[in-house]
Amino acid sequence: DKDIIVLAVESSCDETSVAVIKNGIEILSNVVSSQIESHKRFGGVVPEVASRHHVENVTMVFEEALLKANIDWKDIDAITVTEGPGLIGSLLIGINAAKALAFAHDIPLVGVHHIAGHIYANQLVEPLQFPLLALVVSGGHTELVYMEDHYQFKVIGETLDDAVGEAYDKVARTLKLPYPGGPHIDRLAALGEDTYKLPRVWLDKDSYDFSFSGLKSAVINTVHNAKQRGEEIIPENLAASFQASVVEVLVEKTMRAAKEFHVKQIIVAGGVSANKGLRHALENAVKAQGQFKLTIPPLSLCTDNAAMIGAAGTQAYLRGHRSNMEMNGQSGMEL
Ligand code: KG4
Ligand code: ZN
Repeated sequence: DKDIIVLAVESSCDETSVAVIKNGIEILSNVVSSQIESHKRFGGVVPEVASRHHVENVTMVFEEALLKANIDWKDIDAITVTEGPGLIGSLLIGINAAKALAFAHDIPLVGVHHIAGHIYANQLVEPLQFPLLALVVSGGHTELVYMEDHYQFKVIGETLDDAVGEAYDKVARTLKLPYPGGPHIDRLAALGEDTYKLPRVWLDKDSYDFSFSGLKSAVINTVHNAKQRGEEIIPENLAASFQASVVEVLVEKTMRAAKEFHVKQIIVAGGVSANKGLRHALENAVKAQGQFKLTIPPLSLCTDNAAMIGAAGTQAYLRGHRSNMEMNGQSGMEL
């Protein structure tokens, strides 16, 4: 069979990324240009600043990705691009670049859901085994997704308020840590102990939904009350207590869903899958259970990158998905 080569673009938030992927599994190149430094001083991503950076970087990132992959335009079967969800101004830069190149070189164009990308990052590690359960934990999403087969996504639970990454970033801000706060909380948590009594929010007994805003408020209140009493808080212990609550709820619900849906594989997707506490706890839970295969992408494929969009996009392309020149960014796109 002929190899399928796709060029992939991701620009939904604050990374401009272009990748070339072979057969949906092999990374020929994956160039990521991060804007984190520019957004740090604002304590979060400023959409207008993000769009400008994408415009400045996108051509260079394309050139570098094509050069590294060492391929010809005639070898590219499809151009895949994040269609949504994300910041509209940011999405449009990647989409317009993809459209222009698809038009100029007469190559099929395929729009991809950002979360499908995070899920398919796992296929760059090893083949997916269905049925599977994906725990999606990013800055904008917290979902349990059941997949009977390739590219069939059924959301069985989701957050009713904050996404996990969002809660991490807000807690980090309360502790005066730099943006993005997730990795800093993760690092502190490893140095501390679960000494603060923070809530675990389970919702209904059978629910696979999540809620993290109460936990976030509990952390903020703890800091506030300590200040009023003139007491010092111990950041390591507060980080460890927050992380323990998050991880306990995520792991319990994931394991319960995996059993109920009789899945073969559990995969983790999104920026928060870089979290060491979560990785450890899931590894232990899966080992104790002894019946699921667990896959977690390496750190470089956990946060936003185009390789994952290429992996998902290859499946979409093979299943006949096509976009046309009318494609628009969808900031609130459904999986
Ligand atoms: O998937 P992602 O790169 O962007 C979105 O699509 O949202 O996820 C970014 C989120 C941020 O909230 C960041 O703080 C969080 O992932 N994150 C982490 C860690 N690394 C990144 N959260 C907890 N622990 C980490 N090690
Ligand atoms: Zn993401």
